[in-house]
Amino acid sequence: MLRRTDFKESDVQGFYSGPAGSLWELCMTEEIHSGGKATTEVLARAIGLKPGMHVLDVCSALGAPARHIARDFGVRVTGLDFTDAYNEEANRRTRAAGLDKSILFVRGNAMDMPFPAETFDVVWSQEAWCHVLDKDKLIAEAFRVLKPGGRLVSPTGLSPGRLPTPSSRR
Ligand SMILES: C[S@@+](CC[C@H](N)C(=O)[O-])C[C@H]1O[C@@H](n2cnc3c(N)ncnc32)[C@H](O)[C@@H]1O
Repeated sequence: MLRRTDFKESDVQGFYSGPAGSLWELCMTEEIHSGGKATTEVLARAIGLKPGMHVLDVCSALGAPARHIARDFGVRVTGLDFTDAYNEEANRRTRAAGLDKSILFVRGNAMDMPFPAETFDVVWSQEAWCHVLDKDKLIAEAFRVLKPGGRLVSPTGLSPGRLPTPSSRR
């Protein structure tokens, strides 16, 4: 089977900004991960979300998990995603749901997060880290922005090590 591992960030952004991004929602529901709302519920309980906690949702897509946990667990959420079309739609749906006092989606790269150190009680991300090219930078950033004693939850498929770049492939 042919495996394509030389994708670029612009490929990921192009995928989610175009028709495939809409089809993905149709297939997966607005919560774009396996198990939809039920999985979010299980994760939120497992990690002990409490009212007032500040959660960073890395690769927040259309923002449905953020709205779910803000509404049902009383947390504040910052969503981070580098696809503008998804961020705009996430903020639009959040305003429509009346949750924009608790949630904000911002543009940024998970490998270089635009937040000071020790900002969040929880770093959360569902089924997205497989897209992020440099896992070492991603994980270093996730720990940098976590408060001491904070929690990280990220169910996702990860290959060990760095994804090969075109120059490192034989
Ligand atoms: C499968 S979706 C995430 C689904 C979302 N977590 C949910 O559960 O609804 C993947 C998202 O990751 C984002 N993404 C991928 N690589 C990124 C990166 N390096 N920085 C920020 N966002 C990224 C894409 O723009 C896309 O919105």
